[in-house]
Amino acid sequence: MNTEFKDKVTLVTGAASGIGKATAFAFAQQGAKVVVADIEQSACDVVAEEINNEGGEATAIAVDIASEESIRAMLDNTIQHYGQLDHACNNAGVLGGMVCLTADYPVETFDQVIAVNLRGTWLCMKYEIPLLLKTGGTIVNTASIAGIVGFETLSAYTASKHGIIGLTKTAALEYAKQNIRINALCPGGVRTPMAGFTGTDDQAAEDMVAQMTPMGRVAEPEEMAEVILWLSSPKSSYVDGHALVADGASTAR
Ligand SMILES: NC(=O)c1ccc[n+]([C@@H]2O[C@H](COP(=O)([O-])OP(=O)(O)OC[C@H]3O[C@@H](n4cnc5c(N)ncnc54)[C@H](O)[C@@H]3O)[C@@H](O)[C@H]2O)c1
Repeated sequence: MNTEFKDKVTLVTGAASGIGKATAFAFAQQGAKVVVADIEQSACDVVAEEINNEGGEATAIAVDIASEESIRAMLDNTIQHYGQLDHACNNAGVLGGMVCLTADYPVETFDQVIAVNLRGTWLCMKYEIPLLLKTGGTIVNTASIAGIVGFETLSAYTASKHGIIGLTKTAALEYAKQNIRINALCPGGVRTPMAGFTGTDDQAAEDMVAQMTPMGRVAEPEEMAEVILWLSSPKSSYVDGHALVADGASTAR
């Protein structure tokens, strides 16, 4: 066990799977006390138990980031359990499931994606910032390269991720003098269930994204966790309001 985040209380949303799960483990391995937050209590329990079995410190708190009440309860529980908040990783998100042109995009799906990805990330920040003002700390929001460039057939997702970067920059400006740094991570293709690269029949999807990626492969969730840890650590002490792209050079073209 390393000690870079020793006793720092770290909240990770979307922590039951993919990038969030890898991030929860990475913080725990650096000595943090980790709040494993995701939509299903049982899935949070499994990850928290795995972390605790490996000698880390984690607690499981279910949250639906589309619900203001649920986010408030998550943060109340965090304070009740650990007494403070030092780092927040607002990582939970949905793709939307619909793959169709902007003019054909269903209103209901658009509203759902925005409610989780954009409004949900904002609501998390809204209730995290007053806690972080007490201790100083960091927020890392998981955006996407879909926050940097357009993606045909993914209008709601792309709009939500551009919005997350706007929120990140705005809040970073607002709190820059108050010892809170706020940054975003913009991953390219990462091997997670959301990307559709982890099922048994998904090799073709992964191969297609790998082929489009200059590095010739998709990323592992652990590679994204490393970036989130760096953005949360004093090693990035002058990095604030930044949207860090980690995409195997996909958006360099
Ligand atoms: N995988 C990629 O290629 C990729 C690329 C760019 C950005 N991202 C972003 O990374 C983040 C993590 O995604 P991932 O790839 O690890 O996918 P994932 O599906 O493995 O994990 C997403 C997690 O978010 C949780 N979640 C969804 N809606 C929620 C809600 N309303 N409340 C609480 N939790 C909720 C899910 O239950 C799931 O555990 C997302 O914000 C995603 O948009 C992923």
